[in-house]
Amino acid sequence: MKSIYVTSPTLPPLEEFIPYLKEIWDNKRLTNMGPFHNQLEAALAEYFGVKYVSLFCNGTVALQIGLQALKVTGEVITTPFSFPATTHSIYWNRCAPVFCDIDAETYNIDPRKIESLITPETTCILPVHTYGTPCAVDEIQRIADIYGLKVFYDAAHVFGETWRGKSLLGYGDLSMISFHATKVFSTIEGGALISNDAVMKKRIDYLKNFGIADELTVVGPGSNGKMNEVQAAFGLCLLRRMDKALEQRKDVAQRYMDRLSGAKGIRCLQEIDGLTRNWSYFPILVNEALFARSRNAVYDALKKQNIHARKYFYPLISNFPTYRGLPSAGREKLPVAEKTSKSVLCLPMYPDLPGEDVERICGIVLG
Ligand SMILES: Cc1ncc(COP(=O)(O)O)c(C=O)c1O
Repeated sequence: MKSIYVTSPTLPPLEEFIPYLKEIWDNKRLTNMGPFHNQLEAALAEYFGVKYVSLFCNGTVALQIGLQALKVTGEVITTPFSFPATTHSIYWNRCAPVFCDIDAETYNIDPRKIESLITPETTCILPVHTYGTPCAVDEIQRIADIYGLKVFYDAAHVFGETWRGKSLLGYGDLSMISFHATKVFSTIEGGALISNDAVMKKRIDYLKNFGIADELTVVGPGSNGKMNEVQAAFGLCLLRRMDKALEQRKDVAQRYMDRLSGAKGIRCLQEIDGLTRNWSYFPILVNEALFARSRNAVYDALKKQNIHARKYFYPLISNFPTYRGLPSAGREKLPVAEKTSKSVLCLPMYPDLPGEDVERICGIVLG
């Protein structure tokens, strides 16, 4: 029986990639902001309709450097319902994460619960547009403005999404997007910071290159976050295929919705006015009381048939050994995140997932 995984990477045709490799071999520019790196930065800025893109070797280093570039200190309010990198980036900046519960509708940080977590040490809010669903950006910005906080979005999941007529990457002081192989658009490993002003872009670019500004000047303790030329070339080839890949994802999602959205006790992602969804993930929430089967039972039933769904995001970051002792990490303080994390299951989702496989997956889910 063939295995079906939660995702399958989108690759450019090999024959389109080879001429790029030949050029790299000819010019011997392998890394350090080479021509393909610079072309991809410009191409992505145009594709997203944003001002500045700074490419990185991966999204995690981009998150770490983003916090450093914003000069974030003290406490950072964030969501426990995310991938470990979100909170680890705070830890690596020697700051304290403060977990805020999530909203039951969007699975994003609940803006009504942010203010009570603010202390004199708070300098930044680090929310996640989980599964590509926009955060309550206006409310978050209003709070940030009142208290003088930075807003840095972990936008790892939002490739290609526009909301209210502009890229979802255009909100807050900075946004990070991931180009990992499991994402909608990939450079195998990779990521970017999206900034709104030239001074910030310059600072980010120094920090991703050890802090080096010129041969004699190192402006700060930067890291090595550079994207190499092979990764950038892969991205340039793949970018041309993205419109089609996004269309295909929409078709797969529609097929899932047709079968699952009416099932009692199953909750799919909701349509949101003004949002073009990228369908980067297809999470369902299984309400055990109404559905008569638990999330874990559905997961096991799929696994028996070699279908590997994933419990993104379980366990909560606030329950990891590193963070569970923090005052904000108590399970009783994060009831919605606890409940969501115990009932969520991400079903296989990728552009060329055949319709008959979607039907089979739905059949197993529905029992
Ligand atoms: C929400 C979120 N933040 C951060 C990351 C880290 O990105 P990367 O894998 O590119 O380091 C990921 C995924 O990998 C993610 O899903």
